[in-house]
Amino acid sequence: MPITTCVFDAYGTLFDVAAAARQAAAEPAFPALKERWSDVAARWRLKQLQYSWLRAVADVHTDFWEVTQNGLDWALEATGLDGDPALRERLLALYWELQAYPEVPTMLTALKDMGMNTAILSNGSPPMLDGAVQSAGIGDVLDDVLSVESVGIFKPDRRVYDLVGQRFGCAPGEVLFVSSNGWDAAAASGYGFVTAWVNRAGEPVDRLPWTPAHVLSDLTTIPDVAGAQ
Ligand code: LAC
Repeated sequence: MPITTCVFDAYGTLFDVAAAARQAAAEPAFPALKERWSDVAARWRLKQLQYSWLRAVADVHTDFWEVTQNGLDWALEATGLDGDPALRERLLALYWELQAYPEVPTMLTALKDMGMNTAILSNGSPPMLDGAVQSAGIGDVLDDVLSVESVGIFKPDRRVYDLVGQRFGCAPGEVLFVSSNGWDAAAASGYGFVTAWVNRAGEPVDRLPWTPAHVLSDLTTIPDVAGAQ
């Protein structure tokens, strides 16, 4: 079945989630972050995701902004950096304007030139996603930005993946779903999407009941993958 619709996870896939800690570490106001920014970024991301899964399982939803703040607070305490409120504030502010990976605008433009529908499908709350899309300047090459907030539960609940068919009227097999999160790509395969896992870090495949159809090292070949299906 030809691909008609390319859907992207946001955080870690289009937007570099490590950019906030990396950027703050380069600022003179936060010397303590210099040695520890990558540790902070990794712990922040892991806790943010764990809290999203736990809240989904326990049926105690809150939005991704809350979960993002909770994850950061845990990471700052774990790394001994919780004594500087200005650092917390700066990291959170930077999260609203994360850098997109360099190949993102060209890749999305190529998909639009091929006549594909393009969208984000993310745990992010609508205001967070608006901020990131605007600061990356990619609003023109996205047909929509779909947030889990319209169903009130985080990925990988199937109701989240249902949002794509509801928006574009397409079958799951017409969708190329792209995520840097192995668990998200796996679950989306289980849902019936054609999936591409963007494995920038060269991590092992997640041991889950499903596997991604494609494993890529970055986003540059997405238009080829979508066109060849
Ligand atoms: C998202 C997270 C999972 O954007 O990266 O949905």
